[in-house]
Amino acid sequence: MFVLPGFRKIPFKLKVPYLPSGRVQCENVMKLLKGRQGRLVDLGSGDGRLVLTAASMGLQCTGYELNPILLLFAKTQARWRGISHGQATFVNKDFWMADMSSFNNVTIFLAPNVMGPLEQKLSTELPEDARVIACRFPFPNWPPTCSEGSGLDQVWAYDMKSMKKKALLHKNTFSVFSCQSEGF
Ligand SMILES: C[S@@+](CC[C@H](N)C(=O)[O-])C[C@H]1O[C@@H](n2cnc3c(N)ncnc32)[C@H](O)[C@@H]1O
Repeated sequence: MFVLPGFRKIPFKLKVPYLPSGRVQCENVMKLLKGRQGRLVDLGSGDGRLVLTAASMGLQCTGYELNPILLLFAKTQARWRGISHGQATFVNKDFWMADMSSFNNVTIFLAPNVMGPLEQKLSTELPEDARVIACRFPFPNWPPTCSEGSGLDQVWAYDMKSMKKKALLHKNTFSVFSCQSEGF
């Protein structure tokens, strides 16, 4: 099937089919990336539209994609638009197997069932200055820094710095309470 090749090794509960970002969703993502610098990764880059648009804003972008047909399409688009390999790289790899620690911008348009496991992966791997942008499906536990758009085109930005601060606060509050309950 055109939308599912390359999916054999992915566990059923983590499978996400191809659905491209619409124009408004794409614009909303770019609004939340305004002023950002450094490296960006799109987890499941499809035909490359988010990667190529972010690359034209000056970010150094990588797209992970399992579907070889979409990957070829994205690479061809990059060549057509004169975007160099250094600005936009497309990798045929399962993003669950990739290390995210060198990226300080992440875009995600996947499915509700993967947002929980992704939250865990990204909070252990991303640097403190990272911004994560989730399209259509927000993370289940992270509080967003801000959001753009509404309905199916809504996107949310999450800044790792405030996330890690909140997690630390939560941990400290919890340990004070558990000390008190243990009589310390
Ligand atoms: C909903 S589409 C989004 C495409 C693109 N990011 C966009 O916004 O237009 C999700 C894409 O993720 C890819 N994908 C799903 N799971 C993946 C995985 N584990 N590793 C790499 N790509 C994956 C799918 O093949 C599909 O192209």
